[in-house]
This record gives sequence, C-alpha cells and structure tokens, in this order.
Amino acid sequence: MSLYPGVALITGAASGIGQATAVSFAKEGCGRIVLADRNASGLGETSALIKDAASGCEVLKVQTDVSKVDSVQHLVDEAVSHFGRVDYVCNAAGVLSNNERSSETTPDEFDRINGINYRGCWLCSRAEIKQMLTQDPLPTHDGRPGNRGSVVNIASQLGIVGRPAAPAYCGSKAAVISMTRCDAIDYSKDNIRINCVCPGVIDTPMTKPNMDVLGPAISIAPMDRPGTAQEVADCVLFLCSSKASFVQGSALVVDGGYVIN
Ligand SMILES: NC(=O)c1ccc[n+]([C@@H]2O[C@H](COP(=O)([O-])OP(=O)(O)OC[C@H]3O[C@@H](n4cnc5c(N)ncnc54)[C@H](O)[C@@H]3O)[C@@H](O)[C@H]2O)c1
Repeated sequence: MSLYPGVALITGAASGIGQATAVSFAKEGCGRIVLADRNASGLGETSALIKDAASGCEVLKVQTDVSKVDSVQHLVDEAVSHFGRVDYVCNAAGVLSNNERSSETTPDEFDRINGINYRGCWLCSRAEIKQMLTQDPLPTHDGRPGNRGSVVNIASQLGIVGRPAAPAYCGSKAAVISMTRCDAIDYSKDNIRINCVCPGVIDTPMTKPNMDVLGPAISIAPMDRPGTAQEVADCVLFLCSSKASFVQGSALVVDGGYVIN
C-alpha cells in the first residue's frame, strides 16, 4: 500500500521546493494532488512533470494568491469539491528577503514579505485545518492509527538564527515556526499533525540568481554546499506520511548543519 493513499495539496507548487514536493508525492504513489501557486504557467510545468513521473496521477491546478483570504478559501473548496478531502499539505509559497536592515525597510515591504510568508502560510494552514477537522483518518501503511491530516509548513533556518539585512524575512520565518508549534498543541486532540521544515540554502529559482553572494552563507554550513529541492521534499514527504505518526510540532532543520555551527 502507498504511504500516501489520500490527497496532497502543495502551495508554491510552480517552482523550487513546492514543485519538487509535488512531483515527489506523485513518484511515491500519491494519486491525487492539488497544485496551488499564483504562477499559472509554472503550475502547468509542474503538472507536466507529474504526468511524466506518474501518468495515472490526478492533478488539480488552482491559481492561488496565498496572501488573499478568498483565494485561499477557493483553493481548499476546489480541492474538496474535486477530491473530497485534503490529507497531506505542504505550505511552501514564499518570497525572498528584501535584503535591507530595518531602518531601510519600508512598512509596505515588511507587510508584503510577512503577508505572504507568515500571514499567507497561516491563512493556508487555517483553511486546511478547518477541512481536516471534518474528515476521518485514512488507513495507514502498517495498520497503526492514522491522522485526520498532516500539515507541513516551510519555514527556514533563518527562522532559527539571524542574518544581516533580513529582519522582515527572518521574522516571517520565526513566526511560521512559532505558529506551527501552537497549532500542533491546539490540534493534537483533533488528531491532526502539524510540523515545519527549516531549509538552509537550497538551489532553487529563488536563490539561483544570488548563488554567488550566497557563497559565505553556504560555507557557514559544515557540509559547505547548497541543498537541493529534492532533499527538502524528502523531509516533507516523511513528515506527511504515517511513518511520522508521533512527530508533532517539530521544526526539522534541513541545512547541511548551518545552525549548529
Ligand atoms: N531556496 C532556499 O534557499 C530557501 C531556504 C529556506 C526557506 N525557503 C522557503 O522555501 C519556500 C519555497 O522557496 P523556493 O526556494 O522553492 O522558491 P521559489 O521562488 O522557487 O518558489 C516559491 C513559489 O512561491 C510562489 N509564490 C510566491 N508568492 C506567492 C503568493 N502570494 N501566492 C501563491 N504563490 C506564491 C512563487 O510563485 C513560486 O512558485 C519559501 O517559503 C522560501 O521562503 C527557501
């Protein structure tokens, strides 16, 4: 039996970590996948990659702006109307740091970054959890009790440690870690698991244009290389699966050792 008999929903699915996660769900046997992003052409690209990887997989694309309440509710409504439920969620939609200190950051820039990275993640997890509260657990790979759903938010190593000229971004990711822990406490009794992943420097379209200036940050990590989107996706899939049935409220660091140095 597949580890993923239910429905996966991924935000930020048009690119990078979200795209790798969506394709990984398909490769690992998940047969119903909802792709959400504001970038419609990228959603088409991810859908094509899924069809190449697993032709029988059913894909639903929903163009979504995670910073808008109505858009997020529309996403979950569409997912439920097509597939009946939402079991494994990866909230990966996010934007890069503006690379300014607080004194140079405008309130609009602060709100834009936090409106997507923190409030947008919260809007998504809020709507997803509301749906999960209405559904029963699915059977698991080895018969252990299942969950009504599993949410994985994408935070960052920069939610754990600081970095020069990134207060808006670092704050947005620290907020995601804190929100994840609070939701994990609140929804344990409802049999919903909520965790986050904290990637280090990962080679994606977000970082590629800046890889030369990211050299010193990469070197802080003992492993001294950027990670791949696949290496993050692998951790998301573990946390979503019934093999992680006792993992709750964790912030799984996937950073080549950056935060231990
Ligand atoms: N790449 C890294 O080094 C790294 C490190 C730590 C954390 N992260 C986090 O991982 C997540 C994915 O980043 P990535 O590296 O794959 O970047 P990416 O730019 O490749 O993908 C991000 C996706 O989010 C989408 N998006 C942005 N704003 C949106 C909105 N308002 N509504 C819907 N979709 C929106 C973009 O269209 C894009 O497809 C982000 O939350 C990012 O902060 C990335």
